[in-house]
Amino acid sequence: MGDRDDRFSASAPESAAPGRAIAIADLAGLDALAARLAVPARTGDTFALSGDLGAGKTALARAFIRALAKRENVAPPGEVPSPTFTLMQVYDIGPLEVFHFDLYRLKNADEALELGIEDACADGIALIEWPERLGRCLPPDRIDVGLVITGEGSRRAEIAAHGRIRDRYREFAA
Ligand SMILES: Nc1ncnc2c1ncn2[C@@H]1O[C@H](COP(=O)(O)OP(=O)(O)O)[C@@H](O)[C@H]1O
Ligand SMILES: [Mg+2]
Repeated sequence: MGDRDDRFSASAPESAAPGRAIAIADLAGLDALAARLAVPARTGDTFALSGDLGAGKTALARAFIRALAKRENVAPPGEVPSPTFTLMQVYDIGPLEVFHFDLYRLKNADEALELGIEDACADGIALIEWPERLGRCLPPDRIDVGLVITGEGSRRAEIAAHGRIRDRYREFAA
């Protein structure tokens, strides 16, 4: 995984925190990024995973969960159907609860509230695919990870940390 190709600023004014763009050569590079993101992760952290269909949001979420299981010295959860079919999946990783959301089919932000997304973000670690569906309901303390397809197996990850979580994820600040 190449590491320091350029800087970027997310365009939304609210997410003006500068972040890092990281070149990912292949799936192993994605796993390595997921592992780095999992190191400082703790309850209350939210990861907003954006990018086109096939960009690797689900792959990143699963690699993150595997890395967290390793960190917590517990067996990784078995492969489960994509949350695309369920909107939300919960994983118990040692003492941590991880909520994996795929909001692609979300009809409106109210539906996300019915899913308990606020509690999930507060009481667990939340990994959210298609976070755009939430509009402004995203928690202010979060990591944005945007995945961009740059080739068959290559990706660019654009990462920005917002709010108090920034301190723990300083390595991803520009
Ligand atoms: N470097 C990479 N990072 C992420 N996914 C990759 C990479 N190289 C190939 N892929 C493939 O791209 C696909 C990404 O699918 P998925 O994670 O379901 O995307 P999304 O959830 O963003 O729609 C998978 O089939 C994965 O194997
Ligand atoms: Mg997906």
